[in-house]
Amino acid sequence: MLSAATERRIDARLGALHARICAEPLTGDERYYVSGRGYLDATELGPERDQFAISVATIDGERFDVGDHTVAFPLHSVSKVFTYALALTDHGPDDVLARVGVEPSGDPFNALRVDERTMRPYNPMVNAGALVTNDLLLGADADQRLARALAMLRGCAGNERLNVDATILEAEVASADRNRGAAYLMRSAGMLHGAVDDILRLYLAQCSVRVTSGELSVMAATLANGGRNPITGARLLPRRLVRDVLSVMHTCGMYDYAGSWAFEVGIPAKSGVGGAILAVIPGKLGIGVYAPGLDGQGNSVRGIRVCRELSERLGLHVFATPDEDALLTAATPAERATPPSMEPVLPPATDLTMETDAAVRH
Ligand code: DON
Repeated sequence: MLSAATERRIDARLGALHARICAEPLTGDERYYVSGRGYLDATELGPERDQFAISVATIDGERFDVGDHTVAFPLHSVSKVFTYALALTDHGPDDVLARVGVEPSGDPFNALRVDERTMRPYNPMVNAGALVTNDLLLGADADQRLARALAMLRGCAGNERLNVDATILEAEVASADRNRGAAYLMRSAGMLHGAVDDILRLYLAQCSVRVTSGELSVMAATLANGGRNPITGARLLPRRLVRDVLSVMHTCGMYDYAGSWAFEVGIPAKSGVGGAILAVIPGKLGIGVYAPGLDGQGNSVRGIRVCRELSERLGLHVFATPDEDALLTAATPAERATPPSMEPVLPPATDLTMETDAAVRH
């Protein structure tokens, strides 16, 4: 249980973070993914392009939300984390590793490339790898496999009402030529065993599940908490497998930005083209960010800014020392002298000290 002072500090710091990033101009080059229509520019969208929410759920089972946290958006590639987790549960790490690697590909998420030495996709976070993890899911038929995948998403989010958005799913299926092509190529090479249409639909159905940022943060907190949902108390994953999932998120979760992300931000994370980023601070908390403007790599621009600040300004880099954590504790994080690629968008760290701080320091 967090103290009242800690709760106030988290609320204050998340509020300040949200306000500061809201005030930052976007680059103007953002693209917005709409199922069936592809990547649009800002002029083709309505006010929904400005939606922006940050949620944090702690392993004590407390949740903090700021911004548009009631808006539900499709998971898209964030679902790959949970499909991989379920495949690991179904088969164990060795058998899953025999079918899909754990190496960052350095490629875009939809690259038509596999590791030709091993005839495996590079990792389960790119599309080719997710097709294999979907192929691995156990179940008597397609309906049962989807039911099991949904049960995993619902359990981690703590919301039994999560469901596939049928309109999004049909638009995805109708515009999935690249994924379909990849699936046929992989099947011709013996890398996929099931029927292509079934595997593709199962993958895209999970992409089409809509969640709020709050639910996303609870899904992240379930991973931060070793596989037990900290709000419902339900165990969704064996603790040991969560380590495998987080390792792959850390090295492969952000596609061709994954190495820089691990270095600069240092928080295991997974993005989706809907504008979601799910990020996990093991043993502490889960983060869900939603902001639909994407950069050239398909990652949410504001989502990246949030995670950078959480890491750099609030000391949540997974390799930071405990005395740098300025969210759960009143510490002052260590700052880099000259951050190499941080955008110069932040006030000096001292400006983060809010009036409330004196009152909440403990
Ligand atoms: O595979 C697709 O085309 C999408 N439904 C999901 C892609 C995605 O989210 C990639 N991530 N950034």
